[in-house]
Amino acid sequence: MRSDENVKLDKIKKITLKIDNPNILELGVQKGKSTKMFLDVCEKNDGYLTSIDIDDCSKILEHPKWNFIHSSDDNFEYINKLIKKDYDILFIDSLHEPNHIKKVFYNYFNFLKINGLIIIDDVIWLPYVKGEARDNDFSERINRLTFDQIIRIYNSNKENLSLEIDFTGSGLAILKKKNNQLNEDKKVINRMFTLKNLIKNVYAPKPKK
Ligand SMILES: C[S@@+](CC[C@H](N)C(=O)[O-])C[C@H]1O[C@@H](n2cnc3c(N)ncnc32)[C@H](O)[C@@H]1O
Repeated sequence: MRSDENVKLDKIKKITLKIDNPNILELGVQKGKSTKMFLDVCEKNDGYLTSIDIDDCSKILEHPKWNFIHSSDDNFEYINKLIKKDYDILFIDSLHEPNHIKKVFYNYFNFLKINGLIIIDDVIWLPYVKGEARDNDFSERINRLTFDQIIRIYNSNKENLSLEIDFTGSGLAILKKKNNQLNEDKKVINRMFTLKNLIKNVYAPKPKK
């Protein structure tokens, strides 16, 4: 059986394969699993991949359709001079921390074409809750916060972005850029903790027939 992570990579590959001459920007390389998948698509569809990692991953492979930038992906002063505003896909899989994700999202959004996709890895916490397969307090919390951050971005940008969430394993968020406008994120008002609704948790009247 294929692991959830491989199923997710297959899904990203299927999406990317629909694009002719895809120009891809990848944040986070490590051992190159997603990098190799994207390069496979670049070979098939005559595309090009640029990857960024804070660690030197330049030796993991050699490929004519690959450019590696050794830098923190939030060193915008350096990186923004090296890249052009013509990406079809932005894959965010570097530092899994909600503020960092927001920061890189807002910067690299400007480098995406209209209809370009932003794919964010690890946005679902279900495998990490107590008693589940990957039971882990830290990852549960970070993924919950990452999910909330994405919802906050979408909340103020419903005209500018589309959003799909894939719940496979630790999940993927897939956003499409509809135009060049991107508003500041906006907190989603939650009424679940008003006094009225907290009382309902204890005393929940049955609906009238
Ligand atoms: C989850 S791994 C990437 C996995 C890879 N995409 C894959 O599918 O195999 C995260 C990577 O992000 C890198 N990273 C962490 N913080 C970073 C930052 N601020 N800028 C760039 N890369 C960073 C780490 O060095 C690590 O290689």
